[in-house]
Amino acid sequence: MPVNLRRSSGANTEQGEGGHRRAFLGWLTSVGLFGSAVLSAFSNFVFIKPRATYGAPQRFSIGKPEDFPAGTRIAIESRRICVVREGEKLAAISTTCTHLGCIIGISDTGFACPCHGSRFDQDGNVTGGPAPRPLPWYKVSLAPNGEVEVDKDVEIEPGSYLNV
Ligand code: FES
Repeated sequence: MPVNLRRSSGANTEQGEGGHRRAFLGWLTSVGLFGSAVLSAFSNFVFIKPRATYGAPQRFSIGKPEDFPAGTRIAIESRRICVVREGEKLAAISTTCTHLGCIIGISDTGFACPCHGSRFDQDGNVTGGPAPRPLPWYKVSLAPNGEVEVDKDVEIEPGSYLNV
């Protein structure tokens, strides 16, 4: 009898250990699944939100008004604009051709596109070639630090100058 008791006692102990092991493995599985679900949700959130910006900022400083002497038309090729200074007035005109987007150059009569020969007058109006629209004028303002800011997201009426 005592031998049987020991055997049954040992079997109960093994069943008890097995139950603990199964419970522990179940808990471990649950924690693993929950953790992977949280990680998956976090990574989805991170990848859904775009982290890259494309292209240069559309609002930027071009320097002080005195950097543009009266009577000059200065092209800033990297920004694709031409800064026009007439007396105390300043404006920024696009130098992106409205035909297929080539960078246009300053000519004696205004602007000229090297790609397909479009011509624009001093205000950006089309005077020849395939360009379908005049060149846009962009908003120009004075920043608190005294520098001139151009905002290419805001087109303004051609002929609208900033008094500096
Ligand atoms: S891109 Fe300027 S004329 Fe075609």
